[in-house]
Amino acid sequence: MISHLDLVEEARAILPEGVFQYVATGAGVEETLTAAAPAWQQYYLRPRLPRDVTAVDTSTTLLGTKVSGPVHVAPTGFQRIVHPDGETATAKAANETGSLLVLSSRSTSSLEEVSAVAGPWWLQAYVLRDRDLTAEIVRRAAAAGAQAVVLTVHTPHVARKARSYEFDTSVGSPIIPELATRDDLGVWQAPDVTLEDIQWLAGLSGGVPVVVKGILRGDDARACIDAGAQAVWVSNHGGRQLDGAIPSAIALSEVVEAIDEEVYVDGGIRTGRDVVRALALGARAAFVGRPVVWALAVGGADGVRDLLNGFREDVEETMALTGCTSIDEIGPDLVTRS
Ligand code: FNR
Repeated sequence: MISHLDLVEEARAILPEGVFQYVATGAGVEETLTAAAPAWQQYYLRPRLPRDVTAVDTSTTLLGTKVSGPVHVAPTGFQRIVHPDGETATAKAANETGSLLVLSSRSTSSLEEVSAVAGPWWLQAYVLRDRDLTAEIVRRAAAAGAQAVVLTVHTPHVARKARSYEFDTSVGSPIIPELATRDDLGVWQAPDVTLEDIQWLAGLSGGVPVVVKGILRGDDARACIDAGAQAVWVSNHGGRQLDGAIPSAIALSEVVEAIDEEVYVDGGIRTGRDVVRALALGARAAFVGRPVVWALAVGGADGVRDLLNGFREDVEETMALTGCTSIDEIGPDLVTRS
């Protein structure tokens, strides 16, 4: 697998400085961003040996959908600023590798363009100040084939970023057409999202499951499930929102203990070992944000495909070396915290 640091350097060499910084930045003084990846490394692996690992199967399911492995594509906005093929390339690569795509509602490709080449995909949504527009986007996504809606709740206010960045907003934002010309899309997001919105969205999407993204506490996870969510996604938005927020790796166990439903996680996942650590702590699957953007910048659809295949191979190797032949065998005894 390509080293993540090499990938970042390759992307840095070809992207305009302002675009590179937009993707790389965290919020505040980047405490949470800096802590994300090392937090996974606090969990040491405890291999089970000796074991017969002749055949290792990385496949699993997310809300019943069969996927080739436990690592998938987190929603990241404005992908055409790093590569002209944008989200369409990412969707194609996810499809080719049997991974799930979560499309940002700040996508620079339309729902229809993406769904034409995608395998299984979910739409990430924000509750907008205009609830009717929110409902319309969710309905259009479901009609275009989205199998779930991921409601991002950690951006009631868009945090100020640590680094200065700039990019060309004329790439547009066709999923939220009214936003196409806006630089600061944050002003369109509702600052008053509550559990009632989750209830509303779960009813509205008529059978399309709602996943709540941005949960870092067990009590909130429980409340979201009680409000009608089908799964919860532990995330601090890649350190781009509340600086000082708990790393996902540390928050995960509490959330897993609070609910019986599926729990996903993202933030600082950079190797197959990190994915196995996340699964050992009880996550159903892990998602990657920035690595996908860097891979897209460097190699378009081929780059993202190589990245996702690389992650899956790395998971497979880690499973073999820890004595696991199926995802079900990855349990809490596989890690210990230093
Ligand atoms: C994001 N993220 C994000 N999340 C979301 O729900 N909607 C969005 O539009 C975006 N956009 C976005 C853009 C960029 C450039 C980044 C880096 C991130 C957050 C993303 O889904 C995910 O939570 C983090 O990126 C995961 O952390 P890593 O893998 O980047 O460390």
